[in-house]
Amino acid sequence: MRILVTAGPTREPLDPVRFLSNRSSGKMGYAIAAAAAARGHDVVLVSGPVALTPPAGVTLRLVETAADMLQAVEAALASCDVLVMAAAVADWRPRQASPRKLKKGGGPPSLDLEPTADILASIRPRKGPRLFVGFAAETHDVLREAQRKLAAKGLDLIVANDVSRADAGFEVDTNQVTLIPAGGDADAWPLLSKAEVATRLVTWIETRRERTAPPGGAQ
Ligand code: PMT
Repeated sequence: MRILVTAGPTREPLDPVRFLSNRSSGKMGYAIAAAAAARGHDVVLVSGPVALTPPAGVTLRLVETAADMLQAVEAALASCDVLVMAAAVADWRPRQASPRKLKKGGGPPSLDLEPTADILASIRPRKGPRLFVGFAAETHDVLREAQRKLAAKGLDLIVANDVSRADAGFEVDTNQVTLIPAGGDADAWPLLSKAEVATRLVTWIETRRERTAPPGGAQ
């Protein structure tokens, strides 16, 4: 299979030296890319700014903003059978980034924000027979919110991630996730290393594709 994985945060600039972002380290997405490559799949990894070494054998596309990530995903999608959106894409960006450094003496700036492009929503019309996997990072009502996003984004699978736990979600090396397939039952996995979550997720994807893939791959 050819698998497109997104990882890490995006950065939305306020001025040339400041940005809005989030705590994603890229560990979960990089682990998925590594696990998929280790299984012999072709992997395109679209990554926001992180401090990780890319796994051997993957094609890396480095991006900064949500708009960059959308562009990179759109460019790679045509040849991919599977998309795994593990990136923590910023939901808002400053309406206007200042071309010059904002000076402290001018007092605290007020932030006028606008929504970024929703990548999954933007590419949904091009989904076709591809398998789309999203993640849901939540602190409350984790499963209910994940179910809502599964339906709203037209996904085949959502990986619900309770990021209120200290040993799961952002930055740490372990994760506790619940898989919710469209039309299927939730499957809560125990606390695992991110590498093990990634390996199991790739196995899940392989099994699902064997059952449902049309002959000839993505169109
Ligand atoms: O990188 P780590 O430190 O290892 O942390 C891993 C993680 C917590 C970032 C990862 O496991 C995770 O949960 N990633 C998704 C985080 C997130 O942004 O979730 P969300 O609920 O805001 O978004 C739902 C889905 O829509 C995600 O698949 C997201 O990639 C996608 N999305 C979100 C916003 C946007 N503008 N476009 C999108 O496509």
